[in-house]
Formats: sequence, structure tokens, C-alpha cells
Amino acid sequence: MEFLTFQSSKSEEIKKLFTKVFSDSEGQAEGELIGNLTYDIMTVTDAQDLYGFIATENEQIIGGIFFTRLTFQSGVNAFLLSPVAIHTSYQGKGIGQKLINFGINHLKENRVSIVFTYGDPNFYSKVGFKLITEKIAKAPLKLTYPEGWLAQSLDGDEVEPIAGISYCVEAFNKPEIW
Ligand SMILES: CC(C)(COP(=O)(O)OP(=O)(O)OC[C@H]1O[C@@H](n2cnc3c(N)ncnc32)[C@H](O)[C@@H]1OP(=O)(O)O)[C@@H](O)C(=O)NCCC(=O)NCCS
Repeated sequence: MEFLTFQSSKSEEIKKLFTKVFSDSEGQAEGELIGNLTYDIMTVTDAQDLYGFIATENEQIIGGIFFTRLTFQSGVNAFLLSPVAIHTSYQGKGIGQKLINFGINHLKENRVSIVFTYGDPNFYSKVGFKLITEKIAKAPLKLTYPEGWLAQSLDGDEVEPIAGISYCVEAFNKPEIW
């Protein structure tokens, strides 16, 4: 198993992986939505607003994770973790948590202060995320499931409140994703 920085030459292969994984777990429509989102993240986002990593086994891509910039007026260096996927037949072996921690360590080395995500608190609490409210930090679009708004500080113990509204990158600027 290897963890690597993603390269845009692999965008088609990564899109296929995300489409398949989310089709298997959430149905075909969700698979296509997330596959297209992942492709947009890789192809439309400015390099300084994006970190992407993959997990490979025997040179096959079996997992991927993306972090895109969340911009606040205060200028805090913040990113959003989404999406992450592990090939269906490799799930439940600890690879997802390792890949998330690999990505987060990379962000720490690049002086990112805070990472947000939007998902299942039971899973993301295993890799350091805590439930927050929009009183702590506003999400960029209206949240369908406010109980899935999560964050972790990378430069201190506590998540400090961040004033003002936030902006996501273009790929995430769609109400149906939130
Ligand atoms: C979620 C996902 C990335 C986790 O990766 P993984 O390699 O399967 O997870 P790990 O083996 O590292 O961790 C497994 C743990 O997380 C839990 N877990 C795994 N998937 C979960 C999910 N979708 N929701 C809640 N908990 C989950 C398991 O119960 C397990 O807990 P345990 O170790 O205490 O038994 C992977 O299962 C996946 O790609 N799922 C489909 C796509 C998805 O839901 N992505 C996340 C939303 S963006």
C-alpha cells in the first residue's frame, strides 16, 4: 500500500473509482453526482486551493481523498475534506483512516490551521473531527444535515470561532452537494 499526491493525469481513473464506490454504497445517482464532483474538483480548482491524495496497491488506485480551500474574510488557512473513497473491496481494513491522516499531516506541514468536513460524525470522530455549529464557523451553502458539520484544529487543541461567511471552491458551489 502506498499513499501519494494525486496527479491530474489520473483524473479519469479517479473519477471512475469515486463513481463506483459511491454507486455501490449510495446508489447510481449519488455515484454519478460524486464522480462528477470529484472530476470538477480535479480539473477546475486552482492548484493553491487543492490537495489530493491517492492510495495505491500494485499500481492500482484503490482510494482517494480531496481537500479544497474554504475562504473566510479573516484569512484563516482553512480547507474542506471531501470527498474520500476507498474501493469497496478494500473497505473496513483501516485504509480510509490512514489515508485521511496522511492527508491531514500533509496539510499540517503546509500550515493549514483548520479542516472542516461534512459527513457521518461516527466515522470522522475516529480521525479527530468534532461536531461544530454554524455559530463556530458558517458553512458556505445551506446544510441539509447540520449534524454533519465537523471540524478539527491543526494548530491547537480547540476549534476557535471564525467570524463571517465562508466561500467554497467552484466545484462545491452547488446546493445539491450540501
Ligand atoms: C468511509 C470510507 C472512506 C472509510 O474507509 P474504510 O477504509 O472503509 O474505513 P476504515 O477501515 O479506516 O475505518 C473503518 C471504521 O469506520 C467505520 N465506518 C466505515 N465506513 C463508515 C461509514 N460510511 N459510516 C460510518 N462509519 C463507517 C467502521 O465502522 C469502522 O469502525 P471500527 O474500526 O470501529 O469497526 C469508505 O468506507 C468508503 O469509501 N465508503 C463509501 C464512500 C463514503 O461513504 N465516503 C465518505 C463520505 S465522503
